[in-house]
Amino acid sequence: MSTPPPWTLRRTPLDWVSDDPHLSGAFAPVGPEIDAEDLEVVAGRIPPALRGTYMRNGPNPEFKPISYTYPFDGDGMIHAVRFEDGRARYRNRFVRTRALTVERRAGRAVYGGIMHPVPVDPTLVGEDGQKGPYKIGAYINVLRHAGQILALNEASPAYAMTAELETLGEWCPGTEQPISIGAHNRRHPRTGSLFGISYAVTMPLVDVHEIGADGRRLRSFPVPLAAPSMIHDFVLTERHLVLLVGPAIFDAAAAAEGKPFLQWRPEIGTRIGVVPLDGGAVRWMQIEPFFVFHFANGFERGGEIVLDYVRHAALSLGPTSGPRVPPRLHRLVLDLAGGPVRDAALVEFGAEFPRVNDLRETQPTRFVYLPTRSASLAQRDLPTGSFNTLVKVDCETGATWRHDFGNRVIGEAVFIPDGGEAEDAGYLATYAFEGASGRSDLVLLHASDLAAEPAAVIRMPQRVPQGLHGNWIPAA
Ligand SMILES: [Fe+2]
Repeated sequence: MSTPPPWTLRRTPLDWVSDDPHLSGAFAPVGPEIDAEDLEVVAGRIPPALRGTYMRNGPNPEFKPISYTYPFDGDGMIHAVRFEDGRARYRNRFVRTRALTVERRAGRAVYGGIMHPVPVDPTLVGEDGQKGPYKIGAYINVLRHAGQILALNEASPAYAMTAELETLGEWCPGTEQPISIGAHNRRHPRTGSLFGISYAVTMPLVDVHEIGADGRRLRSFPVPLAAPSMIHDFVLTERHLVLLVGPAIFDAAAAAEGKPFLQWRPEIGTRIGVVPLDGGAVRWMQIEPFFVFHFANGFERGGEIVLDYVRHAALSLGPTSGPRVPPRLHRLVLDLAGGPVRDAALVEFGAEFPRVNDLRETQPTRFVYLPTRSASLAQRDLPTGSFNTLVKVDCETGATWRHDFGNRVIGEAVFIPDGGEAEDAGYLATYAFEGASGRSDLVLLHASDLAAEPAAVIRMPQRVPQGLHGNWIPAA
């Protein structure tokens, strides 16, 4: 039987299973691409004033992977819930990357993963495919800039999508060729420019891009590094871009010997780079080794740069190499006059995927929202980094508030502003998955009163696998 053309909507479940904890249970990918109107609200009510779409991306391999390391491999799938007039509708679509096009033609996985690249037969790649040897998906994040929906991977081209989730192709922000960009990007508070970074896996540098508010690239410049390093996120303030470069090093020589391409080298330490946006020299500071995937926010205040981030004692990869110290929310303060770096844990529990009210990004924030795990999560075979409790942290006082979802798995919570003045005026949206029933709900919590009953619990028409990042996209 011939393979259907790549633009056909996938209507059937996936025909494979895996023992990998990141490809089964709450994480198991889904196959069907569906539309559903008027989703059932099983508790509370959808705020009638809410107008916009919560989009979330995540790794959702269509074909059983040859090599899979969460969260570095996979095909992108965007789940979108659109709110209007107190009702919600749902649509999910694969991001049709060059790599997925090749695999659909082949009817199977042909690429390796980031940890174990596999050369791909050039006759399978063709004119429109991605060469390999590892798959470049677009599964980490989704955002809108200058009216354009972008599905993002890292250190590779983003994919432009329509608001209806049709894939348009690799994103060219006024450029002749696609640019490589990361998954996490930040908007300048005054100009509305989108700043992004893209590291090189074979060269010791990271490129910084500034995309204007009109969607056209304004400038790109390289920042030299000590070694080819993985940098997943960064912080932007009005005057600076700040990099925390942990010793997660791409080692081509090691890969040639069959060892993992990405290596943890604590002897190198972590370096902080303060990049002036006016083109001045980059200032570097050396501190003890640790790794950062995600910043909640960063801002300048009184001659200091404040970074709220989740600190990992080391980079750990895959389900069996869990960290000995769980990742914790920290606040790091840089003295721009050259004083010592100050860093302290804000909370004692393990957590990840920190978010703030995005309207306050790059400005001082006190509230961070992030998922953690409580004892009431009893689903079997959940990998490290599975969460069931959303916590709000006041970074000024250390106060915390919790919403425990019991035996349900949750992910990142995205802030949806409700138009109020206060920093916490709005809702937090996250998917909650119940293993026993196999059901997913989209839950809207009150950000100002996290422990209260949810504002709305919306039953999803199909399971929504654990994913990575999303954003609230207000109605235009
Ligand atoms: Fe991320």
